[in-house]
Amino acid sequence: MKRLLVVWHSASGGTRQMLEAVLEGARDPEAGAVEIIARPALSAGEEDVRAADGILLGTPENFGYMSGGLKDFFDRIYTPCLEHTAGLPFGLFIRAGNDGRGAEQAVQRIVTGLRWRQIAPTLIARGPLEDTALVEARELGLGVAAGLAAGIF
Ligand SMILES: Cc1cc2nc3c(=O)[nH]c(=O)nc-3n(C[C@H](O)[C@H](O)[C@H](O)COP(=O)(O)O)c2cc1C
Repeated sequence: MKRLLVVWHSASGGTRQMLEAVLEGARDPEAGAVEIIARPALSAGEEDVRAADGILLGTPENFGYMSGGLKDFFDRIYTPCLEHTAGLPFGLFIRAGNDGRGAEQAVQRIVTGLRWRQIAPTLIARGPLEDTALVEARELGLGVAAGLAAGIF
């Protein structure tokens, strides 16, 4: 069975709400059989990434950048994963006050170095967390899980 790793960080709960919607979608029986592993960024490691067939990353934008928690994850996994995870399918969801582009660019720079492959458009939820953003987060989880289960990614 394919394994989807979800690595996320949230200080005040916004990204966590998106995460819960992403996981609900990924666990929808409609997606097919996929093993879902959700790991807080500060406790996710190289082994988690190397064992994954796909990865979803969730972060707030803080000070125009990804959260320190997700940056810490990348700092620890970058070198050990560099030669082993090229082509890894990934998706990204971001919770932001009013922007989110700085966090997106920061993640993009790192995953470009890792040669990961983006399989869904980045989801940025700005302003009040509306139901529509949570529906989109659910669809992101469902779409990525379904694509992995079907062997499309
Ligand atoms: C210290 C700090 C810095 C922030 N910087 C930004 C920013 O640069 N751009 C932005 O759009 N929102 C910014 N925000 C708003 C957060 O992205 C927003 O509060 C988000 O919900 C935080 O995610 P979390 O609830 O998962 O921790 C900032 C919030 C904090 C607390």
